[in-house]
Amino acid sequence: MTRYPAIDLRDATVAVTGGAQGIGRAVAAAFAARGAQVVIGDLDLERARAAATAIGGAAHPLDVTDPVSFQAFLAAAGEVDVLVNNAGIMPNGGFLDLDERAGRATIEINLFGVVHGMRLALPGMLARGRGHVVNIASLAGKFPVPGLAMYNASKFAVVGLTAATRREYARHGVSVSAVLPSAVDTALASGLDMKPIPKVATEDIARAVIGSVASRRAEIAVPRYVGALATLSALTPEPVLNAVRRLVRDDRALLPDSAERAGYRARLNGNFSGQTEHQA
Ligand SMILES: NC(=O)c1ccc[n+]([C@@H]2O[C@H](COP(=O)([O-])OP(=O)(O)OC[C@H]3O[C@@H](n4cnc5c(N)ncnc54)[C@H](O)[C@@H]3O)[C@@H](O)[C@H]2O)c1
Repeated sequence: MTRYPAIDLRDATVAVTGGAQGIGRAVAAAFAARGAQVVIGDLDLERARAAATAIGGAAHPLDVTDPVSFQAFLAAAGEVDVLVNNAGIMPNGGFLDLDERAGRATIEINLFGVVHGMRLALPGMLARGRGHVVNIASLAGKFPVPGLAMYNASKFAVVGLTAATRREYARHGVSVSAVLPSAVDTALASGLDMKPIPKVATEDIARAVIGSVASRRAEIAVPRYVGALATLSALTPEPVLNAVRRLVRDDRALLPDSAERAGYRARLNGNFSGQTEHQA
């Protein structure tokens, strides 16, 4: 087993992307409660500032899809000991129905946001021979769900990226771990019927992230047993798996939007048009 140089959270600097709300906010709060200096980066600066003030941390603007923005965020954070790549979006809908911009943004944020963060933070960690990257993937990085094809694609990619880079950098004292939450009650999952996927709290994910600093485990599913179920499902013959999937109605992410879901979609669409203008 690889041994990594220990990180004492009491004098660690921790950067959390997408930490203005939801899982990222809970992760930021958990690190701050353990004495770490926490720096939150988010598109939503106002909310990020409020989150940072509540936990005694700092907030900076960040668009994870833009390497220049990410570089400025990390420069403001200082020497980062732990980077939590958490920012993400989840537009749902049939593969052919999903707006092309929504699909592209899913890959840009969920995958390239993680790539940019790692490319920018790893060199400093490697030079110091110490560091830990936590990529917030998803159970959807192991288990395909109709209606979430592009989200699945982004999260399967993050799981693969994490596993390969983990092997590359283990010898240099730097660990890369993936945390795979099942369903969590946040804006991202709002108005979506995720049954029978078990619901967990943002604090459960935060505990898993904090635990990974000591354990440096490769993949941490929350709750643990869903990781085993995902592995089991990959080994199950397709007709059997499909029968189970039909029984639990695995096509709920294809259902028409509830009012709450429509709100999440409208907010995302607003961000996509902002990005298009920004790039033009
Ligand atoms: N909620 C769930 O059910 C669930 C399950 C598994 C995995 N996850 C993953 O957890 C992570 C956090 O999700 P959440 O549920 O807390 O979502 P959320 O919508 O509550 O929060 C996401 C945060 O990311 C920020 N963000 C979005 N695009 C950004 C960008 N380009 N640059 C910087 N920040 C950006 C948003 O402003 C927001 O503060 C995501 O990667 C998501 O895929 C969530």
